[in-house]
Amino acid sequence: MTVTVGIDKIGLYVPQYYIEMTELAHARGVEPSKYTIGIGQDKMAVPPLDQDVVAMAANAAASILDEHDLLAIDQVIVGTESAFDYSKSVASYLHELLDLQPYCKAYEIKQACYGATAGLQSACDYVRLRPDRKILVVATDIARYGLGTPGEPTQGAGAVAMVVSESPRLLVLDNETSLFTDDVMDFWRPNYEAYPLVDGQFSNEQYIRFFSEVWKNYQEKTHCEFSDFEAICFHLPYTKMGMKAFKPFLEEMSEEERERFTARYQEASIYNRHVGNIYTGSLFLSFISLLENSSVLVAGDRIGFFSYGSGAVGEFFAGELVEGFENQLYIAEHKALLENRKMLTVEEYEEIFMEVVDS
Ligand code: HMG
Repeated sequence: MTVTVGIDKIGLYVPQYYIEMTELAHARGVEPSKYTIGIGQDKMAVPPLDQDVVAMAANAAASILDEHDLLAIDQVIVGTESAFDYSKSVASYLHELLDLQPYCKAYEIKQACYGATAGLQSACDYVRLRPDRKILVVATDIARYGLGTPGEPTQGAGAVAMVVSESPRLLVLDNETSLFTDDVMDFWRPNYEAYPLVDGQFSNEQYIRFFSEVWKNYQEKTHCEFSDFEAICFHLPYTKMGMKAFKPFLEEMSEEERERFTARYQEASIYNRHVGNIYTGSLFLSFISLLENSSVLVAGDRIGFFSYGSGAVGEFFAGELVEGFENQLYIAEHKALLENRKMLTVEEYEEIFMEVVDS
C-alpha cells in the first residue's frame, strides 16, 4: 500500500508592527514606485524588541496544534538563519514552549532560505516509514540588511509552521523532486557580521539560474510541463523576484496559460507583499497566500514549488490539493493578523532597529 504524506496543517505568525514602503522610500530619497513596483513590496513587517525567532515560531505553531498533534509529533525541525545560538537549536526552546511529548527529536537546519524545505522533505521521508507519527516543521526568520542599504526594502519577519502527516488533509507531496547545489557567494553572513553580505544583482541572477536548472532537471525526471500545474509558488525575497525567473517560461506559453499563471502568481504574493522577506518561510507564506486568496483552486489541483536558499541550493517539488483542503485554512485568523498590525513611522522603526544592534 502506498503511503501518502504531506502538509496536514499550515499556520502563520507575523509581528504586530509594520512600515509602509512609500514612507520608507520618502525617507531614503527614493521614488516610491521603485519599492512598490520595481521591487513589489507595499509593507514591511518589523518585529518588536521582545519578539525573537523563538517567539514567532511558537506563535505560528501554537495556532495550529491540537492535543492529538502534541502526542503524535516525533520531531520538531526548525529552518532558520536568524538563530541567536551557535549550539542550542531554536527547536529545543520550541519543544519546551509547546509542551510536546518528550520522546522527540528537536533540531535546526540552516541553508539560508532553503532550510525549511530541507526540513519538510526530511519530515516526509520519516513519516513515509512511520505513518502513525507526525512532524512539526517551522520556518522562522528576521531579515535584516541594515538601514539605508539596497537590501533594506527587502527586509521582513515572520514564521510559518507545518504539521507533516500521513493522509494529509491539505497537500499531498510527491516523492520526486529536483535539486541543484553550487557554491556561490551571492548572500552570506559570516560569524563576525551583524548583517548578511550580499551581492544583490548577482543573487538575482543565481536565483534565476537555479530556477531554470531545477525545472530542467524536474522535466527530465518527470516529463511534466507547466501546464500540469494550476500554480507555481516561489521563494519570494521580494514579490518581483519569482516573476523575473518565471518570465522567460511564461513568454513561451499560450495567452490563456500565461494569464492563468500570472493570476495565481498575484494571489500567491499578496501576503508576501505585506510582510516582506521572511527568508526560509517565504515560499510557504506564498503558498498560504495562494490558498487564502484564490477562489479558483479545487481538490486535485497540482501546485509546483521553487525553493531557493543562497549559497546556494534550489529545489523544485510538487504536491496535490486534497479533497476538503479548504477546511484546513485559517483565512479569518491570518487576515486579522495582517490587518490588525500597528503602523510605525520610519523614525520608530529605526529606533527599534538600532536598539537591536546595540543590545
Ligand atoms: P537595487 O540595486 O537598489 O535595485 O536593489 P535595482 O536598481 O535593481 O531596482 C530594482 C527594480 O526596480 C528594477 O527592476 C528597476 O528597474 C526598478 P528590474 O530591472 O529588476 O525589473 N525600478 C523602478 N521601478 C519603478 N519605478 C521606479 C524604479 N526605479 C527602479 N522609479 C536588490 C535591488 C533586490 C538587488 C536589493 O534590494 C537587494 O540586494 N536585496 C537583497 C538580496 C535579494 O533579495 N536577492 C534576491 C535573490 S537571492 C534570494 O532570494 C535569497 C535570499 O532570500 C537570502 C537567503 O536565501 O537566505 C535573499
